[in-house]
Amino acid sequence: MTLDALTEHSIALIQKFCADDQSITCAFSGAEDVVVLDLLRRANRSMPVFAVDTARLHLETVTYIQRVQQHFNLDLTWIKPDPKAVASFEHQNGRFSFYEDGHLACCNLRKTEPLRAYLTQFDGWLTGLRRDQNPNRGTLPELQLDPVFKGLRGPLKKANPIASWSREDVDTYIQRYNLPQNPLVQQGYKSIGCAPCTRALKPQEHERAGRWWWETASNKECGLHQTPLPASKVV
Ligand code: ADX
Ligand code: SF4
Repeated sequence: MTLDALTEHSIALIQKFCADDQSITCAFSGAEDVVVLDLLRRANRSMPVFAVDTARLHLETVTYIQRVQQHFNLDLTWIKPDPKAVASFEHQNGRFSFYEDGHLACCNLRKTEPLRAYLTQFDGWLTGLRRDQNPNRGTLPELQLDPVFKGLRGPLKKANPIASWSREDVDTYIQRYNLPQNPLVQQGYKSIGCAPCTRALKPQEHERAGRWWWETASNKECGLHQTPLPASKVV
């Protein structure tokens, strides 16, 4: 599909997803999912937008999110982890335990659980997930019932309006429409998460290689988009 056709397709999907009076929110991670915000604008759908502030984001990402908020005049909520739970976790495990025993416990505390609480106010949410981001996202549907979170009335609807876009489509869209970009992109970053867990890419590396680079490729999810941490490991 051409970029124009993909754009029309995604705008139609957003309009369909938001057609009734249900309460919908949109995620913004401070990376290339700025495209979704522009598609919302073009679809004439304004809605609350959230960013999960793990308190470990790069300063560049925090600054960029604020810039994007102004650019689109967003109604933006910063979702933050419980400071007491973070303090207790760090007291027990140190600040960099993820390099030793994996990222899931820290992601659960700083991302998944705070988002779980926030999403209970909504019937659905939009993400910037794409199939080409990760082999285990290869069968990602555009519309689904969220397998991880619950919503206001029980099941939570999830829309992934750029699921079928490639990385190249996203980059071309950002350039073509002159959207603001996270300054880390100029430093070689592509997929961008927390500062201690994201590095710039080496030549020819897949965009996901810079995330949790010390772990095997099969572990590269934080819990927002797949089965959360087993109960025994929940902090
Ligand atoms: S992650 O699960 O590995 O961290 P990824 O960085 O690929 O996710 O982002 C995929 C989508 O998840 C983003 O487009 C966005 O919809 C959502 N997302 C991830 N991190 C955040 C965040 N910190 N705040 C808001 N949304 C996020
Ligand atoms: Fe913690 Fe790293 Fe996950 Fe951020 S990406 S929540 S710092 S493990």
